[in-house]
Amino acid sequence: MSEDFLPLNGTDYVELYVGNAKQSALYYQYAFGYELIAYAGPETGIRDRASYVLKQGKIRLVLTSPLQTGGIISDHILKHGDGVKVLALWVDDAEKSWLETTSRGAESESEPKVLSDQFGEVKVASIKTYGDTIHTFVERKNYTGVFLPGYMPRKSTYTPTTIGLMYIDHCVGNVALGEMNKWVEFYENVMGFKLLITFDDKDISTEYSALMSKVVSNGNGYVKFPINEPAEGKKKSQIEEYLDFYNGPGVQHMAIATDDIIHTVGELRKRGVEFLEVPASYYDDLLDRVGKIDEDLQPLKDLNILVDRDEEGYLLQIFTKPVQDRPTLFFEIIQRKGAKSFGKGNFKALFEAIEREQELRGNL
Ligand code: FE2
Repeated sequence: MSEDFLPLNGTDYVELYVGNAKQSALYYQYAFGYELIAYAGPETGIRDRASYVLKQGKIRLVLTSPLQTGGIISDHILKHGDGVKVLALWVDDAEKSWLETTSRGAESESEPKVLSDQFGEVKVASIKTYGDTIHTFVERKNYTGVFLPGYMPRKSTYTPTTIGLMYIDHCVGNVALGEMNKWVEFYENVMGFKLLITFDDKDISTEYSALMSKVVSNGNGYVKFPINEPAEGKKKSQIEEYLDFYNGPGVQHMAIATDDIIHTVGELRKRGVEFLEVPASYYDDLLDRVGKIDEDLQPLKDLNILVDRDEEGYLLQIFTKPVQDRPTLFFEIIQRKGAKSFGKGNFKALFEAIEREQELRGNL
């Protein structure tokens, strides 16, 4: 086996560019149970933006808004609405990561640089991926501060209790028709990822619309990026709807792992988070389809949690509705009980649920 030229320790953080980071930060604290841990802005010597860092389990979300009109952040929001800008990857050597990837054809977003403050130094470097999304390599072995140099610790007077969100299981990109293979090859050739699974339009087709998907994973399996493209259907694919409203390729959803999905989803629902609903009939023959599971059926049915099984075990999952008014970014909550797959048995029910929402929006 050849050596992994891009060893990754996992996802370092995910940064969203949003219209109002102050309010978004409170939404993710109240509704999703994240804790505010750090802030950067005018008060910390950053003049052009305000960034809030939220944490739960191993997940770090950064919410950033521009302070003035014009500039990269402002233009990003104007074009895309709220969305994911940075999928940051935790590495031991940021410069080597940048060199290995750019020498294999990655387009550089920013060259390796050292950020430092009294807590030490962090090396960062970024490359472009699909659309306006970027990957930032973060090397933090010589840093003891709360997040990155320039950020100060910050607490909220509201201290949420965790709802059990543990880590990012996978992060999905939507790309244009005919571009899926190009981006799969990018992750294979430029980042050293391996193709894990292919779903064609026969796997993922409802009566009306279709999509195709391939999942790539890094060497140790800590980072998984499914890539979707629209496929021909009778009506508009959900991926096309995304591309229309995001104005191009971008992150469609982040799947967050929990080890108690009934608790997590119960809390999210209590706090007003909206989910896609599948018909009650989904549960009629569920146990015939997936076999014996540890959970009682009733709470799964009450919370509309879906179940799927593969050769290695089963998984429980649910999708939120989009978390902004544009039908773009949403979250998946997933609990794996041995299964390493992505819920193929639920695609039809889920995509029909998405189509009902598309129909309501007049976009089917
Ligand atoms: Fe997913």
